[in-house]
This record gives sequence, structure tokens and C-alpha cells, in this order.
Amino acid sequence: MRKVVVLGGLGNGAIVAAAIEHARRMGATDLQVEGFLNDRTPVGEMIDMFPVVGRVEEAKRLLDEGYWFINTILRIDGNRERIAMFESLGLPDDRLATFVHPMAYVAPSVQLGPGCVVMPNVSMSPGTRLGKNCFMMVGSMMGHDNIVGDYCHIAAQAAVGSYLHIGRGVHIGLNATVIENLTIGDYATLGAGGVLTKNIGEREIWAGNPARFLRMAE
Ligand SMILES: CC(C)(COP(=O)(O)OP(=O)(O)OC[C@H]1O[C@@H](n2cnc3c(N)ncnc32)[C@H](O)[C@@H]1OP(=O)(O)O)[C@@H](O)C(=O)NCCC(=O)NCCS
Repeated sequence: MRKVVVLGGLGNGAIVAAAIEHARRMGATDLQVEGFLNDRTPVGEMIDMFPVVGRVEEAKRLLDEGYWFINTILRIDGNRERIAMFESLGLPDDRLATFVHPMAYVAPSVQLGPGCVVMPNVSMSPGTRLGKNCFMMVGSMMGHDNIVGDYCHIAAQAAVGSYLHIGRGVHIGLNATVIENLTIGDYATLGAGGVLTKNIGEREIWAGNPARFLRMAE
């Protein structure tokens, strides 16, 4: 078994940890969650099924002890800073655990970067490439021939079309839809339920059906 710690906790961290544990009980992964690295919850406290085992800065020590890592510390406002914080830890790509739940469909030609997580009931069509540390949350759908940057978060039930260029640190909201042939800039967000029909620029937040510009990410 590879021991993995999840950076984060409440929310996506616990969701991802539970999915890994579910897969482990099915005999479908060699990952074993040890707990969370979290700066807000006291060490030793449980978050759902697993304890907080240390502060985020302790990742380097755990690296030396042979652990693997999944980073779930992402958010809409301040994402650039959070990604910079994660990168400052200097964790090598070859110790970021990539996890695909056995109830997901991932076409054989899909490329997943290190640290990507693919949750149950996801569908990923051929020829798409995800950068590192991206999330396909429960029930989301990724079309074919997309190029997706690092640190993107595709929320539950989102439907993402094809021939897209999606930048780094992008959030596609719950149940949102992106039609084909668009470009989405770095750190941009499509709000929950939005239907995106136009390109969106760096750090822009769009929402609604059809989606319109709402504000810039902080
Ligand atoms: C788009 C989003 C980022 C905007 O957040 P915000 O800036 O805090 O927005 P506010 O709540 O202040 O709302 C501002 C206005 O936009 C509207 N709005 C907010 N989100 C919207 C959405 N998803 N669709 C349509 N309109 C939306 C609000 O109704 C409000 O309109 P009003 O000024 O007429 O009252 C947020 O609402 C959202 O959709 N986040 C994604 C949620 C998600 O995917 N969660 C999964 C996490 S795992």
C-alpha cells in the first residue's frame, strides 16, 4: 500500500479521502489514507473518517518518510496564492498520488497529470489532457480533445464540452455547462449552473444562463 496524506480537510479533502477509502475497501486502489495536513483544525481531531496528522508545512518531513500527497487546498478567490503556497512546499510530481475511483469511466487515451483525482460517476472522453492536481468531482463529464491546465476543479455534475483550452486554476461550478471550442483563462470561474457560450478571460467570474461576466476573482 502507498500511504497518502491529503492537504486540506473539511469539504473536498474529506470527500476525496472517503472516495479513496471506498475504493480501498473494494480492493481497487493501493492508496491508504493516513490523514490530513491542515492549518485550521487541531492535530489529532477527526475530519469525517481520518485525523489531522499535522500542519501543511510538515509535508516535507512526510515526504522524507515516504508518504504520497493529494492537494485539495483550492478556492475561487485567492486560488493563485493557494497554488503558490502548495508549490512552495516543493513536493515532487512523482509523489503526488493520482486517484481514479473504480466507478469512473476514463477513456484510455485520456492523460491525467500527477495528483489528479477522478471521482465516482465521472466520464472522460478520448484525447483530453489534464494538468497536475486537477479534480473531476462526482458525476462530472469531460468532453474529448480538451487541454486542461494544472489545478483545475470541475465541480459535481458539471458538463464540459470538447475542443476546449482551459487554463490553470480554473473552477467550473456545480452543474455548470461549457459548450465546445472555447478558451477559459487562468484562475477563471464559471458559477454553479452557468452555461458558458463565450471565451472567458483570466481571473474572470461568469455566471448565469447564458453566462455573463459577474466580477473578477480576488
Ligand atoms: C459565481 C459565484 C462564484 C459568485 O459568488 P459571489 O461573488 O459571492 O456572488 P454573490 O453571492 O455575492 O452574488 C452576486 C450576484 O450574482 C448572482 N449569482 C451568484 N452566483 C450565481 C450563479 N451561480 N448563477 C447565477 N447568478 C448567480 C447572485 O444572485 C447575486 O445577484 P444579485 O446581485 O442580483 O442579487 C458563486 O455564486 C458560485 O456559483 N460558486 C460556485 C459554487 C460551486 O461550484 N461550488 C462547488 C464547490 S465544491
